[in-house]
Amino acid sequence: MTLKNIKHQFVETLKKLYEPEEIELFFYRCLEQLEQKTKMDFVLNPLAEAREDTGVLWQRYLRDLERERPLQYVLEQAYFYDLTFFVTEGVLIPRPETEELVEWILQTVPADRPLRILDVGTGSGCIAITLAKKLPLAHVTAIDVSEMALEVGAKNAVLNGVEVEWVLQNILDTAALSDCFDVIVSNPPYVRDLEKVEIHNNVKVYEPALALFVPDHNPLLFYRKIAELAAAALLPSGWLFFEINQYLGAETLQLIDAERFEEPELKRDFRDNERMLRAQRKALL
Ligand SMILES: C[S@@+](CC[C@H](N)C(=O)[O-])C[C@H]1O[C@@H](n2cnc3c(N)ncnc32)[C@H](O)[C@@H]1O
Repeated sequence: MTLKNIKHQFVETLKKLYEPEEIELFFYRCLEQLEQKTKMDFVLNPLAEAREDTGVLWQRYLRDLERERPLQYVLEQAYFYDLTFFVTEGVLIPRPETEELVEWILQTVPADRPLRILDVGTGSGCIAITLAKKLPLAHVTAIDVSEMALEVGAKNAVLNGVEVEWVLQNILDTAALSDCFDVIVSNPPYVRDLEKVEIHNNVKVYEPALALFVPDHNPLLFYRKIAELAAAALLPSGWLFFEINQYLGAETLQLIDAERFEEPELKRDFRDNERMLRAQRKALL
């Protein structure tokens, strides 16, 4: 079949579900992975035949997209910062908001010191691995309660050529962290059950509930616990970074112990939502 015909099939099959630009993106990303061709290759030669061995995969990818399976799971690949990650159901697909959190960390901490960094709830390992890559002197530890997440994280560390210490641990059951750190970062579960109506079907059906949802009656349980652990485990002048629920900025700020941390601050993301929090442990208590 020609690539032009395949593109036509994508448009006809998916137009009831997605915007035209999104369908284009799906097609070109699949083209890249299945045919190793760029959009420019396609534009210059739309009547080129698909490779003989990719026909079944094109159809499988199209069926999956029709079932609203996220593109990143279909391709088993997600881009984060300037790196590529393997992703599969069982780990959250890295989000652009989280790239902004990583950027804030990199703007804040010195790159020329052997920092000790902890990422709580690491998922695909996107935060831990990007920090390890950009801060080559750092020692990065990553915690998750999900074995699958740690397996995916370890695979991504190899893919990106960095070392991270992976720890299977339930942070909510942790009385004290076993080490001291210069930076503790977390993008924990923070979507309340009441916010599920705002969440797209493809997220609810395919992405792990363990990574996303918290009970309405206790939505900040992860922040409370991690802030408490960080107050004891952060070195003087060390940094705490959170990705936060956009509706709970003020409440999350209140959890930061004013006796132990300098003035904490919130930061808005590219959608203008309060999405990040930063607090510095006081130098001397
Ligand atoms: C919102 S996801 C973030 C994943 C990744 N850090 C990212 O930014 O894409 C939250 C992560 O926390 C993990 N998690 C959930 N409950 C946990 C717990 N009690 N202890 C440790 N990790 C937990 C989930 O498995 C998931 O990987």
